Amino acid sequence: MGKTKILVMVGGLCRDSLNRQLFGNVRKLYGDKFEFDEVDIAAIPYYSQDLEKNPPAAVKDLKERIAACDGVLFVTPEYNRSFPGVLKNAVDWGSRPHGNNSWTGKPAAIIGATPGNIGTFGAQNHLRQVLTSVSIRTMEAPQFYYSSTGDMEDGKLSENSSAYLKEFLGAFEDWMAKLK
Ligand code: FNR
Repeated sequence: MGKTKILVMVGGLCRDSLNRQLFGNVRKLYGDKFEFDEVDIAAIPYYSQDLEKNPPAAVKDLKERIAACDGVLFVTPEYNRSFPGVLKNAVDWGSRPHGNNSWTGKPAAIIGATPGNIGTFGAQNHLRQVLTSVSIRTMEAPQFYYSSTGDMEDGKLSENSSAYLKEFLGAFEDWMAKLK
């Protein structure tokens, strides 16, 4: 049996993105069980109904990759107590055109990292609400909030956080199996 295919949407675009570093830890912890397919969300044009009639290649590609995955992992930064617009743009495109929502029924999990001390709760909370509206089945619990202060060295999570992230990924594996 092949590995479980996880589509990965990282909402931080900068080279040293804390959230990309967090995803690096996921890859290390679960690379033997999950095959990760990370979407370059910055390459997806802003949504416009005009573009929908003849979707850009990046959008066709996104929709094909959503169709092919077993689950979706959202790794979100927090911007002004919500998730980044570039991530919302990708979610919106995946839900279109009307009647062809690629997200329907896909199991998902959300994680996020911030140097601040509320651990991306605001971002995750908003994202969870939006994912419900596009019929994604987001795992309710456990939840993973990460305030980086002093806990990540050279991109590597502390032992404690690493152990919890592993537990979280195990629960996600069970969640996907349950919804299959
Ligand atoms: C932030 N940041 C931030 N952090 C937080 O915990 N709560 C917040 O509401 C915000 N708001 C916010 C708005 C904007 C426009 C920016 C650019 C940043 C800080 C943010 O968590 C920090 O820059 C992270 O490093 C962003 O994640 P990546 O890109 O490093 O993965």
